[in-house]
Formats: sequence, C-alpha cells, structure tokens
Amino acid sequence: MYISRFFSFNLTFTSADLHVCIEGVECGGWEPIFCFPRKSHVDDLFPFFLRHAKQIFPVLECKDDLRKISDLRIPPNWYPEARAIQRKIIFHSGPTNSGKTYHAIQKYLSAKSGVYCGPLKLLAHEIFEKTNAAGVPCDLVTGEERVTVEPDGRQAAHVACTVEMCSVTTPYEVAVIDEIQMIKDPARGWAWTRALLGLCAEEVHLCGEAAAIDLVTELMYTTGEEVEVRNYKRLTPISVLDHALESLDNLRPGDCIVCFSKNDIYSVSRQIEIRGLESAVIYGSLPPGTKLAQAKKFNDPDDPCKILVATDAIGMGLNLSIRRIIFYSLIKPSINEKGEKELEPITTSQALQIAGRAGRFSSKYKEGEVTTMHREDLRLLKEILNRPVDPIRAAGLHPTAEQIEMFAYHLPDTTLSNLIDIFVDFSQVDGQYFVCNLDDFKFSAELIQHIPLSLRVRYVFCTAPINKKQPFVCSSLLQFARQYSRNEPLTFAWLRRYTKWPLLPPKNIKDLMDLEAVHDVLDLYLWLSYRFIDMFPDASLVRDLQKELDGIIQDGVHNITKLIKISESHKLLNLENLSAESQSRLSGTLRSQARRTRLTKTLESEAAEPPSPDAAEKSLASRLLRQGLLTADMLKQLEKEWLTRRTERGREKTEPGTYSKGTRRKKQENDSN
Ligand SMILES: Nc1ncnc2c1ncn2[C@@H]1O[C@H](COP(=O)(O)OP(=O)(O)OP(=O)(O)O)[C@@H](O)[C@H]1O
Ligand SMILES: [Mg+2]
Repeated sequence: MYISRFFSFNLTFTSADLHVCIEGVECGGWEPIFCFPRKSHVDDLFPFFLRHAKQIFPVLECKDDLRKISDLRIPPNWYPEARAIQRKIIFHSGPTNSGKTYHAIQKYLSAKSGVYCGPLKLLAHEIFEKTNAAGVPCDLVTGEERVTVEPDGRQAAHVACTVEMCSVTTPYEVAVIDEIQMIKDPARGWAWTRALLGLCAEEVHLCGEAAAIDLVTELMYTTGEEVEVRNYKRLTPISVLDHALESLDNLRPGDCIVCFSKNDIYSVSRQIEIRGLESAVIYGSLPPGTKLAQAKKFNDPDDPCKILVATDAIGMGLNLSIRRIIFYSLIKPSINEKGEKELEPITTSQALQIAGRAGRFSSKYKEGEVTTMHREDLRLLKEILNRPVDPIRAAGLHPTAEQIEMFAYHLPDTTLSNLIDIFVDFSQVDGQYFVCNLDDFKFSAELIQHIPLSLRVRYVFCTAPINKKQPFVCSSLLQFARQYSRNEPLTFAWLRRYTKWPLLPPKNIKDLMDLEAVHDVLDLYLWLSYRFIDMFPDASLVRDLQKELDGIIQDGVHNITKLIKISESHKLLNLENLSAESQSRLSGTLRSQARRTRLTKTLESEAAEPPSPDAAEKSLASRLLRQGLLTADMLKQLEKEWLTRRTERGREKTEPGTYSKGTRRKKQENDSN
C-alpha cells in the first residue's frame, strides 16, 4: 500500500505500465484492472518497481563496483615506489621559532638530492632562494610557476615546491615536509597525507607541532617505517602581557596588530594614520610581491614605518621583525568540516602560531610579547594559549581523477558534482583518515556544468584553486572553460582585452580589490597553462603582466591609508560602523560561547527563513549580490541559462542518474532496505 501511495504522488515520472498497475491498486480493488489479471498478487508489481527504481537510481545496478572503486582503506598501497624502499622518518617537533625547519633544511642542503614541500608559495620561494644562495642548484615548482635553474633546462637535484605539487615518483635522498600538522586541514590535508605516504626519499623530515606525532607514528606503523622524534625548545623567550593595549596611542615600534577581517585592517590602519604614524599592511589576498615589499618596509631599520597591521596571513612564511603581537580580535570566521561558516574564537594552535611571530630568533627583537587590543579579551587569550593542543586524530584523503573517471563510467549521465557526492557517500576509510571537504571542487563543478568538456578536462578545471568569494575569478573560470570547449586558445592579446589592460593605479579600496581579483585571474591562467599548454599558450607573457600588476598593487598598498580615506569620504567604506561593530563584537569576549551559538543560529535561520513581505530583499540572489558573491552581469547570465534549462527541466526530472539531495535520501533508504 505504501508503494501505491508513493507512486500515486509521483505519477508524472512513472512509466506507463507501472502507472496502470498502481492506479488499479489505488482504486482499492484488484479486479477491474486493464492489464492486471484477476488472480494476480501484489508481488507481481515488484519487477516493474525494480525496473523503474534502477532507471531512477542507476547506482543500484553497480553498487558493488562503486564500493570497490571508492575503497580508500589502505592509502599506503597507492604509492608503490615509496613502498618499494625503506624510508627513515624524522619528526622535528616543537613550538614556533624553535629551529625545526632550520634543522631539516640543513639536512636537505647537505644531501645529494632533495625536495622541500611547503604549505605556501612564499615559503617554497624562500627555500628556493636560500638553497640557490647556499650554492646548491634548486628548482621551484608551485601550481602557477616552474623555475629551472640549470642552464641546459635539466631538472636540478633539489626542488622547493608547494606540498600539492611534490612528485611521488622521483627518488630523492632527503625530503622535508613542513607544517605537518596541516595533515588535519579539512580542505588541504590530503596533500600532506599524499606527501607523507608517497614521497620516495631515503629520509623524510617532518616539521611541526607535537600534536601530530601520534598520528604520524600510527600511519608509519602501517607502512612498517620507524619514526624518530627530535624535540626542540623555543629559541627566544615569549611572554603574555598582563595588560591589553587598550588604545592605539600606546603603540610602540615593532608592534603588529593582528585582525581577522579586511574591514578591521582598514579601520585600524586609518586610525593609526590619524595618529601620525605609518603602518605596513599584509593580508592574504595581496600578491606575493606586495606582501614581501610590505614586510621589507616594516623590517627596514631605516624606514619610518614601524607598525604592522596584518591578518593571520603572517602566521606562516614571512620573516618579520615583530616585538609585540596585539590581537585586535580573537574571533575568526572559518568553514567547519561540514562546510558551514562559523564565527569561532581562534584555536590554541592558531593562537600559538600567530603569537610565535613575536621575537623571532633571526630578527632584532630577541624577546617576544603578546597581548590583546581590548582588556576584556586578555583573559580569553591567556585561556586559549594555555589549553593543551588536542592530538591530531585523522589525516585527509582526496579521490583521484581516475577514481572519479571510473565512477563516471558506471554513471555516465551523472554530473561531476553529483559524482563527488556519490563518491563521498560510498567511500570507506579507516579510522586514521577522513575524506577532505570537496565543497570548492563541487562549487567549480556546478559553475561549469553546462559547458561541454571531457570528464578529465572538467576535473582539472575543478581542481584549479580559486577564491570563490571573488565574482570576477569565478566568472573567469567559466569564461576560460567556455573558450576551452570551443577550442579557442586563450592568447595574451585576448587576456589583455578580457582584463581591460592597461589597468590604472587604484583610486580607492574598491579599485584595489578589483586589481587583486585580476591578479588572481592571472594566477588562474598560469595554473591552467601548466595543465593545458596548447590552450593557454602565453604563460611567460602573462607572468610579466602579473609582475607589472603586482607593482601597481604594491604602489596602491603603499598608499593604502589614502585609498581608505577616499573610500570613506565617498561612502564606499563605512569604517565608523565597521569599527563600532568590531568593538561590540570584541567587547563581550567572555560571553563568546553564547554569542557563538547565537551567530550559528542566525546563519542557520537565515537559510530557513519563511517568506516575508521583504522576501525579495532576502532572496538568495539579492543576498549574494549584497555580499558581492554575484555581480549583476553574472545574474543576467544565470537567468539566461536558467531559462534555457527550464525548457529541458521536465525531461531532466525523469532523466536517470540525477542525484539531488532528495534522491540521495531515497537511495540510502533503498540501500539500507
Ligand atoms: N641553529 C641555528 N642557527 C642559526 N639560525 C637559526 C638556528 N635555528 C634557527 N635559526 C633561525 O631562527 C629562525 C626560526 O627558525 P625556524 O624557522 O627553523 O623555526 P621553526 O621552529 O620552524 O618555526 P615555525 O614553527 O614558526 O615554522 C629562522 O630564521 C632560522 O633561520
Ligand atoms: Mg618552520
């Protein structure tokens, strides 16, 4: 009876023969039915039901195959080259500024061949430069850049790379994996797991927090490799002050104010300027050249700029002469394991990493200090810093292109984003591992879904690292994919037109943000140029263009307080309110737990809000427009695409292989049944 009810509500997509039978059942009698014999039993419906179910849920046909393909239970077996040798694992453990990387790098420099795997482009660059300066030829490999130093273009025996880019088939004498605790990162952790299990080196040196020792030892137990732990102590003392800064009037040379939002950065630098002081500014979305220029300005003893305003982008990879770290706020927006946005106080690990920038061994300040801007925050900071760091329990994993390709072979009509969902649902992992958050991948997959591309190419486009909060970068991914599918190479001349080159120096903060977005688009071009050289043929010209743009942005940031002032006077920024907002956000840190719950609830209820008179204002499109995630042009384009799709919608509904959230739930019911 349940079946009959279920299908009577879904008659639009049941096939005709099943429809007739079900109508008969619904009529309450088994007798007056067209094609259903008088003496039939309800079980006779089953073959029809099964045929229909298989059409709607094609996974039913190949469940066992899918399970096998998505079996992620023994990752060490994915790396036969590494398993063929016996590696020695050395874990350099200790707090920040204790010489972990230094000691690992000494070993790397003295080896005949080596690979350094860093968490950031800036760190890979730093080691690349240091190694070559030490007279050891070293190449550089990042997602967007390859530099070979040997005159004949041959690969050097040493290479510095970002961890995602390391080769797991090249043999090395020594490998260094920096910041190994990032193995737990919900989105990027897979890259550290891959390097740890896959690097083909006689000695693998890991640098990082002690919290990762147990997990690494467990993982190496499965590969039969021994782990030697070397412990280090901080090289310079650091202390948490008993008083907060309270006012920017109390700033001293060597101070670094750490904010977790760009608005706070603007507001603080403006207030510093009002006090007649100069500040350097560093935040994540600045190009590397600009970050280095700002760091140099701050470090230069002859430069009057002695204050730094920065986000936690300084947490890794820059050598800065900081005496005192001042936390302007302790609340940082983050994305949790489920992909939801949260406003949480920073973790102990993050606080230690940032605080550890004060009194760096190599800088002129041999003692570090840490405090907060606001008195109410100081107790929480001390509490956070004193908490023990939880041991890391699991390492990230990521499906490979081959696995997704095999899924697509079994489910040919399923979209890439749905394939990922199905993969994650089917995948099996051991307790020491977790499947990384693939939201960014799925975001890109959905963005370019309607563009005809082969699965392999689509997969590569989706792995391109993009900032999905930047509308111009997202629309560029779309544009690049579209042109690729039309087989039209993306030339330098085309790119100049597309980015409206030449670009003018920024006149306000919005201009500056636009230029940062163009820089990201050029990064995207370069990233794709290493994967599709024929279609993105002008990498070296684009690199020159990017350097020029970095220079324009550098000049803009040099005068950032002027840009802020102009933006304020043109009401492009509302710093007074922003500032007040941050103040109130900060003032009740001790109530942070309650606020956190409230904030999470607000975010949740936003999604579930019932329609109201001002529903248009609260529509998803208007919200995305307001948040700058969507531009008017993108909205128009989406409207066009939706209209085209609407005509196909009826067909799509019955099309086999679609795997929306609703059908997924049904699939699970079927599975468990
Ligand atoms: N024995 C040493 N001789 C000379 N310089 C050293 C020595 N040990 C460390 N340093 C310098 O001290 C600074 C901090 O060292 P390092 O970067 O290795 O610390 P770390 O423990 O890796 O810190 P983090 O956790 O922040 O990465 C670096 O500039 C490094 O070059
Ligand atoms: Mg280090």
